[in-house]
Amino acid sequence: MSADLQRVFSGIQPTGDLHLGNYLGAIKNFVALQKSHECIYCVVDMHALTEWQDPTELVGNIREVTAGFLSCGIDPKAHIVFNQSQVSQHAELAWIFNCVARMGWLNRMTQFKDKAGKNRENASTGLFTYPNLMAADILVYKATHVPVGEDQKQHLELARDIAKKFNNDFAQSIKAQGLEEEFFPIPEPLITGPATRVMSLRDGSRKMSKSEPSEMSRINLKDDADTIAKKIRKAKTDPQALPSEEKGLEGRPEADNLVGIFAALSDQSKAQVLKQFGGKQFSEFKPELAELAVSVLAPIGQEMARIADDSTYIEAVLSDGAERARAIAAPIMCDVRRIVGYIG
Ligand code: AMP
Ligand code: TRP
Repeated sequence: MSADLQRVFSGIQPTGDLHLGNYLGAIKNFVALQKSHECIYCVVDMHALTEWQDPTELVGNIREVTAGFLSCGIDPKAHIVFNQSQVSQHAELAWIFNCVARMGWLNRMTQFKDKAGKNRENASTGLFTYPNLMAADILVYKATHVPVGEDQKQHLELARDIAKKFNNDFAQSIKAQGLEEEFFPIPEPLITGPATRVMSLRDGSRKMSKSEPSEMSRINLKDDADTIAKKIRKAKTDPQALPSEEKGLEGRPEADNLVGIFAALSDQSKAQVLKQFGGKQFSEFKPELAELAVSVLAPIGQEMARIADDSTYIEAVLSDGAERARAIAAPIMCDVRRIVGYIG
């Protein structure tokens, strides 16, 4: 890695349809970072297994998330696109991190609490230790920057704590090996743009999510133009006109969400959008939002359908990416093995 090129890593789980939240909170930023960084984008199939997946569906979902990356503009030649399970160093480092992270740290993770719900006894142990694997994903490449949506902030903080504890617990051994004192960099989260937390179109208090049963709650990247427009037309709103300033969005989660989506899709701030639409009714705003969303998303959906049909191409991209990812991860993992005191 050249000194001035910082390394970006991020991942998306192949557990359902990619949606507008994934696009605005993550993938759109992945695309932009390609200009300035060396990027590694991963389909995190091992993370998907933390909740049971139908194996046939999982294969299809891995291909589809890959097609999503490519159709949004990620360049698999200039950067790296691959699926996690092809690079065994992720699992190898995750085990070491299982032994570095503390029970107390994982017990605080709100995503585990949300996903496990009331039936915690029956959650997989993988779901509990999932943030350790996520830290391994990032640090096995010594990535310095991690673009994610707001919901991943706490996991990123944990990854930083793991990197610090490892560097500290093994400080003497790191020194004895003649390696840099800060062996693992402390990765920076990149949570940027006006839509870091896109909410459900049916309920402004819930996150837009792959697991929400109602299809009307989210716009999928695969949706065609009519479906996108219909979902926006039917999106929940309140009866007031749009405010002229951002402060006026407080306590109006649905309005805030739609304005944030408009802003992110048109590369503006919410304040700029409100300058244009302040005082207007949703009946005027929604058709404009629908037109904008269709113009940005429908071509992505078409491209996704085209690429998804070509599984030979997708698998070639993933295996080429995995090989290049391994070439970065293997020597780092080799150092880690010596640092912790393994033989061989
Ligand atoms: P996941 O689908 O959970 O694997 O998430 C993949 C990426 O999309 C992560 O960076 C998430 O933070 C981001 N993401 C998921 N849902 C949303 C949402 N509703 N709003 C913004 N970002 C999201
Ligand atoms: N946990 C992330 C999510 O559910 C996905 C993920 C796995 C990830 N490993 C990562 C994101 C490493 C960033 C970096 O959205």
